[in-house]
Amino acid sequence: MLEEQLLDPRRHDRQTFTSGVQELDDYLQRFAIQQSKKGITVVRVLVDTDTPKTILGYYSLSAAQVDTIQLDTRTQQKLPRYPVPCFRLGRLAAHSAHHGRGLGRLLLGCVVERCLEARKHVAAYALVVDAKGEPAKAFYEHYGFIPCHDNPMTLYLSLGA
Ligand SMILES: CC(C)(COP(=O)(O)OP(=O)(O)OC[C@H]1O[C@@H](n2cnc3c(N)ncnc32)[C@H](O)[C@@H]1OP(=O)(O)O)[C@@H](O)C(=O)NCCC(=O)NCCS
Repeated sequence: MLEEQLLDPRRHDRQTFTSGVQELDDYLQRFAIQQSKKGITVVRVLVDTDTPKTILGYYSLSAAQVDTIQLDTRTQQKLPRYPVPCFRLGRLAAHSAHHGRGLGRLLLGCVVERCLEARKHVAAYALVVDAKGEPAKAFYEHYGFIPCHDNPMTLYLSLGA
């Protein structure tokens, strides 16, 4: 059974994780624990409960804000002119041995669920992500994320009213 868990260096083997993007592997191996401890981000991993040490995918999520001028014109008209609160999907990656088998979709679904749950308690307008390359950008656009005006590699998904 696939399960989402908080990253825990005693339970999860970070060294064997490879996504095909070095920066994302390095982050998991070198920075994710530190940043979690400092309260900068929350990192969750996806594991199969039959092989619970092996990380199949991960994501990191933080609080953030977005300048409404970055958003599409119709959205801007509904919002104040100052920055609005959002969640930032800092990183998301699936193990390269399993690309194309639905893990990315599952991870993104977990992220959106977490955001919807969190915004019952703390308001956030959108989920924002910095795509680490064109394939990643295409992946997010596939799920309805919209590129920001100034920087199309930053995309957002409105979380609804
Ligand atoms: C991007 C990534 C997370 C996708 O994960 P995946 O497990 O291969 O994708 P899935 O099998 O879950 O695909 C889900 C859907 O997204 C689509 N998709 C996957 N990669 C895509 C891409 N690069 N462009 C457009 N669509 C894509 C699939 O066709 C599928 O569509 P469907 O549900 O309509 O059939 C994965 O390839 C990855 O980890 N890449 C390296 C790291 C990376 O670039 N992360 C993003 C950094 S910000």
